[in-house]
Amino acid sequence: MNMEYKTLNNGLKMPMVGLGVYNIPEKETQRVVEDALSVGYRSIDTAAMYENEKGVGDAVRACGVPREELFVTTKICEPCHTREETLRTVDRSMRQIGLDYVDLMLLHWPVGNPTVMWHTLEELYAQGMFKAIGVSNFYPNTFPMIVKDAKVMPVVNQCEAHVLYQQRKMREYLKPYGVAMEAWSPLAEGRSSIFKNETLVSIGEKYGKTSAQIALKFLVQNDIIIIPKTMHKERMVENISLFDFTLTDGDLAEIRRLDTGRNVTGWPSDALVYEPAVVG
Ligand SMILES: NC(=O)c1ccc[n+]([C@@H]2O[C@H](COP(=O)([O-])OP(=O)(O)OC[C@H]3O[C@@H](n4cnc5c(N)ncnc54)[C@H](OP(=O)(O)O)[C@@H]3O)[C@@H](O)[C@H]2O)c1
Repeated sequence: MNMEYKTLNNGLKMPMVGLGVYNIPEKETQRVVEDALSVGYRSIDTAAMYENEKGVGDAVRACGVPREELFVTTKICEPCHTREETLRTVDRSMRQIGLDYVDLMLLHWPVGNPTVMWHTLEELYAQGMFKAIGVSNFYPNTFPMIVKDAKVMPVVNQCEAHVLYQQRKMREYLKPYGVAMEAWSPLAEGRSSIFKNETLVSIGEKYGKTSAQIALKFLVQNDIIIIPKTMHKERMVENISLFDFTLTDGDLAEIRRLDTGRNVTGWPSDALVYEPAVVG
């Protein structure tokens, strides 16, 4: 299976498409991740909050693919206010996942004291526990808490992004920092009848591709890393088969018109709906 990679700001290469495992029950996670790895996925996105880090680690150990070919992301979400609290939270995740290192550790949300949490991740990154560190759901009201005196710049900001919420402002905002945009819910969780969207369906017909593939390709072609979730092997293949066609400028312009400029999943995903983080 063809795959493209994004070179992150620390030189690490990350697959442009990975599998997200939110909402996959722990007891099914190992099977689902092994299925994904068997059809060519090399990147998996989990989090402490998903309560399935163990299944991801089990699959990585059992799959037979050399560890260095895999890219494992996890996230810590507990509000920590001190270095010690952050170390304990990270330690819980590392014990759950059971790997010597993870490729990418993210701060899941701007909670607790993000500045202290970030400095603790920087320390563990320097020790080699993570190949890269980054953030998720940080908007211009909270992102400065990370970068103001960062020794290590985040490699990504993982935010809700899909054809209905294209995050053009965020992408522009991140550019000067060299921080890559990663999309969560790249299929908008299947909401707003996205798979029946006429624009996506009709563009797909030109290439023999599904509406899901057109929605995902739009992101990839805009240099956005994606982690669509599915538990079905045939959809895993569908969601990763994106590198044998190219959308034209006309296609891209049509899809740009689908942008509603707002989140559709109901998760907090912009500055207006965040609980204020504590800084101090
Ligand atoms: N950082 C954060 O705060 C945050 C928040 C949300 C999500 N995430 C990450 O982003 C990942 C993806 O987001 P998501 O899981 O919320 O939503 P998503 O990937 O946008 O959509 C997943 C939904 O679409 C269905 N689906 C997948 N491929 C399909 C296809 N080709 N055709 C038709 N239906 C398809 C899936 O059903 P089936 O499983 O039944 O196929 C599932 O219902 C998560 O798993 C997680 O890793 C991160």
